[in-house]
Amino acid sequence: MKHPLHLGIIMDGNGRWATRQGKDRSQGHLEGLKAARRVTRAAAEAGVKFLTLYVFSTENSGRPTREVDFLMGLIGKHLEAEMDFYNELELRVLASGDLEQLPAGVQKSIRRVESATREHSGMTINLALNYGGRDEIVRTFARWQARHPGEVPTEAALSSMLDHPEVPDLDLVVRTAGEQRLSNFQLWRVAYAEFVFSSKLWPDWTAADLDAALAEFTSRKRNFGKVMAVEVEVPSRN
Ligand code: IPE
Ligand code: IPE
Ligand code: MG
Repeated sequence: MKHPLHLGIIMDGNGRWATRQGKDRSQGHLEGLKAARRVTRAAAEAGVKFLTLYVFSTENSGRPTREVDFLMGLIGKHLEAEMDFYNELELRVLASGDLEQLPAGVQKSIRRVESATREHSGMTINLALNYGGRDEIVRTFARWQARHPGEVPTEAALSSMLDHPEVPDLDLVVRTAGEQRLSNFQLWRVAYAEFVFSSKLWPDWTAADLDAALAEFTSRKRNFGKVMAVEVEVPSRN
């Protein structure tokens, strides 16, 4: 089976999950964390090599302070607390985004988990934290300018200066909770990605939902702007 090398997931619907059950939105984020663990395991077992999880967007900092503080606390607490999970699955953990704006404790945890999992040989899990696609492009261009003032970059040059440039283009983007938009996710790397939208809320996602999304990806025909070989056969003259 042809699997995506790089899968991205826009994990949406935590708040709605909680509200529908008469609970506080924070309960939805706690359940969302459990779903992230389930689906990460399923992706690793299915043979996905890179998984980018959209954890917190640059725009999410505009949410009520109470929710932002809760999310930052949850992220700070769990980054290192999941070390046994990373070790068990040999996960290499990375973080992408404007990390300097994150609380100092979260930045420290990121440095620790990145370095502790650097030699792992399993799936790479790229956590998009305080991440915005436009922001990544601007920061990437700033890095280019610092090294090559006044020069125009090629696409390959900019690709090589993104956050963690070893993370390849996205093959598949999944979004849950019925929304069909990117919300500033990975704008550079989605150029030829396939999309799968699921109406299920993120906390309800299971390994079976991931397997269904991967099967859908497998059935897609990707052209990358070209004409497929079978369609360019020269018609016979007789
Ligand atoms: C996704 O769930 C988690 C984050 C964006 C941090 P939401 O919190 O966006 O849940 P809904 O969309 O309000 O249901
Ligand atoms: C996108 O979800 C961000 C994450 C999943 C982290 P949002 O819930 O923030 O997106 P919008 O506001 O509905 O577009
Ligand atoms: Mg949402």
